[in-house]
Amino acid sequence: MCGIVGYVGRETAAPILLEGLRRLEYRGYDSAGVAVYNDGGIQVVKTKGRIQALAQQVEERGGLAGTIGLGHTRWATHGAPSDVNSHPHVSANGRIAVVHNGIIENYAEIREFLQSTGVRFASETDTEVVAQLLEYYYRGNLLDAVTKVLHRIQGAYALGILCADCPDRLIAARKDSPLILGFGDGFHVLASDVTAVIEHTREVCYLDDGEIAELTADHCWVYDAYLRPVEKERRHVDWEISAAEKGGYEHFMLKEIMEQPKAVHDTITPRIRDGAVVLDELEFSTSYLKSLEKIYIIACGSSYHVGMAAKYVLEALLRKPVEVALASEFRYCNPIVSERTLALVISQSGETIDTLAALREAKRLGARVLSIVNVVGSTIARESDGVLYTWAGPEIAVATTKAYSTQLAVVDLIGLAFAKTMGTLGDEEYKALLEALERLPQQLEEILTHREQIQYLASIYFNHPSVFFIGRNLDYAVGLEGSLKLKEISYLHSEAYAAGELKHGTISLIEPGTLVVALAGCRPVFEKTMSNVVEVKSRGADVLGLTIAPLESAVGKVVDYTLTVPETHPLLLPSLEVVPMQLFAYYVALMHGCDIDKPRNLAKSVTVE
Ligand code: F6R
Repeated sequence: MCGIVGYVGRETAAPILLEGLRRLEYRGYDSAGVAVYNDGGIQVVKTKGRIQALAQQVEERGGLAGTIGLGHTRWATHGAPSDVNSHPHVSANGRIAVVHNGIIENYAEIREFLQSTGVRFASETDTEVVAQLLEYYYRGNLLDAVTKVLHRIQGAYALGILCADCPDRLIAARKDSPLILGFGDGFHVLASDVTAVIEHTREVCYLDDGEIAELTADHCWVYDAYLRPVEKERRHVDWEISAAEKGGYEHFMLKEIMEQPKAVHDTITPRIRDGAVVLDELEFSTSYLKSLEKIYIIACGSSYHVGMAAKYVLEALLRKPVEVALASEFRYCNPIVSERTLALVISQSGETIDTLAALREAKRLGARVLSIVNVVGSTIARESDGVLYTWAGPEIAVATTKAYSTQLAVVDLIGLAFAKTMGTLGDEEYKALLEALERLPQQLEEILTHREQIQYLASIYFNHPSVFFIGRNLDYAVGLEGSLKLKEISYLHSEAYAAGELKHGTISLIEPGTLVVALAGCRPVFEKTMSNVVEVKSRGADVLGLTIAPLESAVGKVVDYTLTVPETHPLLLPSLEVVPMQLFAYYVALMHGCDIDKPRNLAKSVTVE
């Protein structure tokens, strides 16, 4: 989604802004621009296309002098991707420049109003109304104009504002869209994402909804919506800059797949002490956990797929009903939630707007919220009653891999810890599951060493236009993720089906040459799954099987090729099975020459509904 970067200090702003935008590229965008104050006015360069094209245009303009400016990557919502619709947008007199993430919902009404006063709009965007409205309200006091605009606009926004009449300061404001302030020696930065600023500073603070910030080179003031000063807590970010670089890999996605053993290790190890899971971060009492009526898992996309696996795991371990909801549906389905509901919210970015809105709705209805989040200090983390971080480090590829794996690991930790508290798991079973969990990083390493085999199979199957992933129980949950990985990065059509459901309609699509990926590692349903595999095989499908090593020969008798993962505790199967699925998707996309880290139309952090 859109990205914002801003700088005010003593150095030339343009190179800092362009570098910040490069670091935000992974979020997905279709155009980019910068605005810099210099010599009495604001200079804007913006273009449809890549940052490289923008950098070239900046160079052609002599590099843009000036020590204060804003940059933006746009992911089009209102108005097609084009030079003129790119941000920054300037007011009619050219004195005020604005960058914006989010959507101004009442922009049409404001636009009409401003047009009736004679304002002429240059673009089709919702954002331009903010720049024009600022000019309309500006009477020499920028903050006053900003608050008037903020009271008039509705929707979600992170805003960066530069005014030629106050050339020593940037204004920032947020509602429902993330914005971070970074503190340096003689400079301040603002950004929608911490990766854009860690090269310059690790001291940051997160703006909360309704807050406005005023930044000069040496000072930072934060106010509430009525301009009352607000004290902000600073946080130290300890992500390494190298984690946001490719480190010799062709793509971030492959690098992040390869980082999974370490990410899972880093996520579980600090939380296992003396043979037990210890979740110091949480303060849920035994009586509260025992009184729970249900757990409602809320998430989107791959995080939702983690939720699908979590349902099987948590119901098995806690013997409590678990419902899994797509965040975008949860808000509008009149959900049955009470004080005895625990909402388990899963999000890599911690900023997905649908998930955040669903979290707020769950809280409003009385639930307590436990979140699993990767980005420290993100909005979902801050608004939860308890948060368990996944220590995956920054995830840059749009398609998630290591965040998914660490989310699964946290689900397993929650299952173990809560089961102990609630007394739903015997000591022997607890020990066996915990030991299996601790073995995962090494087993993940083992799977990754055999990735050439998956590359070979991808070279055989990459031309199939349509792929079905089938499996039962936890295999089905992994199939959902395998299918999403494949379609999002290779653009092949694929679908995941519960294997037993196929014959209720979808099997009519199976014909000679259709590729079916059969996940058959789940022992309790193995025979049943294999019956479904035989059904597709006898209709001529090409079948690629995925199972655990001890079942290889049984699967191999039915399918064309078999991939295996080491045996683990049945509840941990997704943690291993997902890796060959990620690699398969990766190599298929590679063979199609796709833009793997930045698939078309997709964004890393989805901050619009
Ligand atoms: C797919 C993918 C997305 C995200 C989804 C939720 O590879 O990454 O489906 O899982 O957009 O994002 P978060 O987890 O940041 O809330």
